[in-house]
Amino acid sequence: MILVTGGTGLVGSHLLYHLSLENDKIRAIYRTKSSLEKVKKVFSYYTSDPSFFDKIDWFQADITDVPAMIPAFLDMKYVYHCAAFISFNPKDYREMRKTNIHGTAIIVNLSIDAKIDKLCFVSSIAAVGDSIKNEPITENCEWNKEKDNSGYSITKFGAEMEVWRASQENVDVVIVNPGVILGSGFWDAGSGKLFSQVYNGFQYYTEGVTGFVSVQDVVKPMILLMKSDVKNERFILVSENKSFKEIFFLIADAFGKKRPSTKIKPWQTAIFWRIAWVLSKITGKEPLISKYSARSAHSISEYSSKKIEKELGYEFESVDKSIESISKNYSEN
Ligand SMILES: NC(=O)c1ccc[n+]([C@@H]2O[C@H](COP(=O)([O-])OP(=O)(O)OC[C@H]3O[C@@H](n4cnc5c(N)ncnc54)[C@H](OP(=O)(O)O)[C@@H]3O)[C@@H](O)[C@H]2O)c1
Repeated sequence: MILVTGGTGLVGSHLLYHLSLENDKIRAIYRTKSSLEKVKKVFSYYTSDPSFFDKIDWFQADITDVPAMIPAFLDMKYVYHCAAFISFNPKDYREMRKTNIHGTAIIVNLSIDAKIDKLCFVSSIAAVGDSIKNEPITENCEWNKEKDNSGYSITKFGAEMEVWRASQENVDVVIVNPGVILGSGFWDAGSGKLFSQVYNGFQYYTEGVTGFVSVQDVVKPMILLMKSDVKNERFILVSENKSFKEIFFLIADAFGKKRPSTKIKPWQTAIFWRIAWVLSKITGKEPLISKYSARSAHSISEYSSKKIEKELGYEFESVDKSIESISKNYSEN
């Protein structure tokens, strides 16, 4: 039996569809019934046949609730741990530690107790270190705890530490470190917002560079790694390194919309995030931009996926092709 946490999120829902093509015994964790509709929507991008979604045994639990999670591990052999709390708002740090580090520790402990065969953990490029001598960042670049890391980054790194603990306790593990994941179905969050904003005429761009990857190019290597003999390794999953400007332009072109025309400079975002912080203190609302999202909008970080390409002979889809098909799904929505 296969267990998927975070099955109602971007990665988890696309993973569940791909797993459902080959497997009948899949259990997925969910918290609220309403989020299952999002998963149905994601499945509808691939198929109109409801039997794939119907294969999933939905199990209601919060991953931080040990008694609720214990029965989920009954007859479990393979666990894909995708659940996480993603935020760049400093006020969410405590909650992120609870979900991302403590939640992963629980998944690890239950995996050890259940003597599962293999655990796949979805980490992030946020948990990988900086480049050495301006070369692309690899899995070997050491994470620097002295740096002013974002809370998200700290908790993803902390979660990885828990997963390595599983590898010391007779559970084979693989970790994937995707870049910014582009995929259909979650238009109000994460990279989905890039599509909705550009569609709605967003005019601004920055020139920071980072790694991008389609959600299919995250979940397919995860499944291949779980089926392989590879164990106790981590893999960066990045199709291409691109600037936000290039990404915004590609999305605008795919929609046939006007390209964003106003470049935002680092000093401007430095002012914006401070104003947003003050406003959020006054209104109690989520800040539009945080210190860390402002920083990543301008930072230039290039990543190498050579390790996974070599290990699996995996070929990534180009970012412009991914953007084309995601934009099509968005327009048809
Ligand atoms: N999106 C990206 O660009 C990106 C890039 C690199 C790495 N990642 C990593 O990829 C993984 C999946 O990300 P995503 O984009 O799919 O995130 P997402 O769309 O925000 O989904 C997060 C999932 O985690 C679940 N979850 C959160 N807290 C939980 C809890 N306490 N108990 C049970 N379930 C909980 C959510 O359930 P609800 O539906 O109930 O909220 C949802 O299913 C994460 O580990 C993330 O760090 C994401």
